[in-house]
Amino acid sequence: MNRSHTPDSYAHPALAPFHLGGLQLANRLAVAPMTRVSATPNGIPTPEMADYYAGFAHGGFGLVITEGTYTDTVFSQGYLNQPGLVSEAHVEGWRAVTGAVHAAGARMVAQLMHAGALTQGSHYRSNTAGPSAIRPRGVQMPEYGGRGPWPVPKEMTQEDIAEAVAGFVAAAKNAQAAGFDGVEIHGANGYLLDQFLTDYTNRRTDGYGGSVAGRVRLTAEVTTAVRAAVGPDFCVGVRLSQTKVNDFEYRWPGGAEEAKLIFARLAEAGATYLHVASEGRDWVETARLDGGQTITALAREVSGLPVIANGNMHHTGQGARVIAEGHADLLSIARGALANPDLPKRLAAGTDLEAFDHAMLHPMVHLRNARQWAESRRTAESTVAASA
Ligand SMILES: Cc1cc2nc3c(=O)[nH]c(=O)nc-3n(C[C@H](O)[C@H](O)[C@H](O)COP(=O)(O)O)c2cc1C
Repeated sequence: MNRSHTPDSYAHPALAPFHLGGLQLANRLAVAPMTRVSATPNGIPTPEMADYYAGFAHGGFGLVITEGTYTDTVFSQGYLNQPGLVSEAHVEGWRAVTGAVHAAGARMVAQLMHAGALTQGSHYRSNTAGPSAIRPRGVQMPEYGGRGPWPVPKEMTQEDIAEAVAGFVAAAKNAQAAGFDGVEIHGANGYLLDQFLTDYTNRRTDGYGGSVAGRVRLTAEVTTAVRAAVGPDFCVGVRLSQTKVNDFEYRWPGGAEEAKLIFARLAEAGATYLHVASEGRDWVETARLDGGQTITALAREVSGLPVIANGNMHHTGQGARVIAEGHADLLSIARGALANPDLPKRLAAGTDLEAFDHAMLHPMVHLRNARQWAESRRTAESTVAASA
């Protein structure tokens, strides 16, 4: 590679270009998937969503990963107003989004998500399904319309599992038709595939449970099936995490040995990249494994694939270190991107970043960033004051 393209010749090493499989990315900065529950009630992406996603591309992000998008009309939907990739209308809606993002110079990947037992709102079903009939830990997320404990899911049959795999495959083909540059299989954060991977949510005694080889089987089967459907050149990422939206403390019980098996299995299944995320915790807190290596560096070594690291990467020193020391190839940024849709441009110009404010987690996309959110809050407050 030309010296002018090496990470250490940039203001921030993540500003260096990168080849992700066959995709040429302008830099190593990705917008992390963020659920915004802003689609129509039947899951069609809106023009506001096209503006929202294109905003990150205009701000210089090389890669934009969508929010978790549901894959079937059975058990996959997790939230009301979540977008889908199931119908022709979904494909049409997403085509406008990918068009806007491409026109602004970024590449775009659709995150394919089956919520499993962590479903708290569905257009299609009132009951939920998971690997075993075990009530999930914690409580539903009020910011996405949930309340109280999660329901106990029905234990999925072999037919239910086959239907879920078919949903991922159909959604991946729909993503291709909608103009996406790739898909990311959501195997993280406590959703269906992670429920199968996790020992305490998966008590199955068939070939999908038991040892880690059994528990990772469904994620691997989905990856193999999606790869076969989309062809050898389409980007197929897999996102994994130890922590979950409803359990920030969980760590893979088998440590580095278990991690090696998982990473190797997914590489063998045909993944293009691994996205090793850190939900609710800093990268440093979840990255260090028993052998002293970081989980992202281990993922790179074992899989031989590009790896995306996540978790407070908008702390620019941390992001720079992760790339410069070879812990990962790319960084994904969620909260920092909400506060700074133009984060890559700011890094290049040496401009300070806007601080993230928890109140920015307002899920709707029409409140796109810190400034718009603050303006809407000021307007709401002055309206209340005026009417008091
Ligand atoms: C508003 C919001 C919505 C999120 N939705 C998703 C999602 O749909 N899929 C997913 O894999 N992760 C989701 N996440 C997790 C982020 O991708 C990321 O892992 C987490 O926020 C940590 O990264 P950060 O420190 O850059 O914020 C979401 C995070 C936020 C803040």
